[in-house]
Amino acid sequence: MSIVPADDDSPSTMPAGFINHLVEYGWARQAIFLDADLTLALAAECQGLNDQQLLRIAKTGRATKSDMHVSPQAKIQIQTKIEAQLRSDQISWLSAGQSPACDQYLLRMESLRQQLNRDLFLNLDDYESHFAFYAPGAFYAQHKDRFQDDDRRTISVVIYLNRDWQTEQGGALRLHLSDSESLDIAPEASSMILFLSATMLHEVLPATRDRLSLAGWFRRR
Ligand code: OGA
Ligand code: MN
Repeated sequence: MSIVPADDDSPSTMPAGFINHLVEYGWARQAIFLDADLTLALAAECQGLNDQQLLRIAKTGRATKSDMHVSPQAKIQIQTKIEAQLRSDQISWLSAGQSPACDQYLLRMESLRQQLNRDLFLNLDDYESHFAFYAPGAFYAQHKDRFQDDDRRTISVVIYLNRDWQTEQGGALRLHLSDSESLDIAPEASSMILFLSATMLHEVLPATRDRLSLAGWFRRR
């Protein structure tokens, strides 16, 4: 019996250049991360969730001040109003087994988690992810992904599901790399962006068409 060597060229292994870029700049992009068929299946699933009105208004995880002297109902109203000013996408959290496409995607992210732990000694424990649907005009104001009430998020991931995206259609992910430097990334189908959750300030600009994506976070315990 022969021992089969580990296949470093398997499609689920990210190239060294990608990992190095993440280390050096705090972000990295892969133009083609998911193959076309899987991207299409995930886009159809996200669109279907929207059509069936199964998406929910996203929350930011920013709690209203506990010292606010208002009724619980008023607190919820204020919270909802604050959140509407911060973001207006709609989401659906993924769970294992919900569809073959989602399982294939989650498997892919699991091998990426293992690679990041191997290459960067990151101790990432799990991955949480949701579909996100931005209707025309929807946005997500400047923010970081690590919120006060949850410091487990370590690496942020966004995978885009929009074929033939044109720059004029807006909808860029804007990374604020420093006070004076920003970078706009078009939400083009099959592409993936990774960045450090704790430090990267970013926002989603409004678009003139529907903008579909999968957002996710590798977390530590
Ligand atoms: C997020 C987010 C970016 C994008 O969901 O936290 O910043 O490009 N998404 O969709
Ligand atoms: Mn974000």
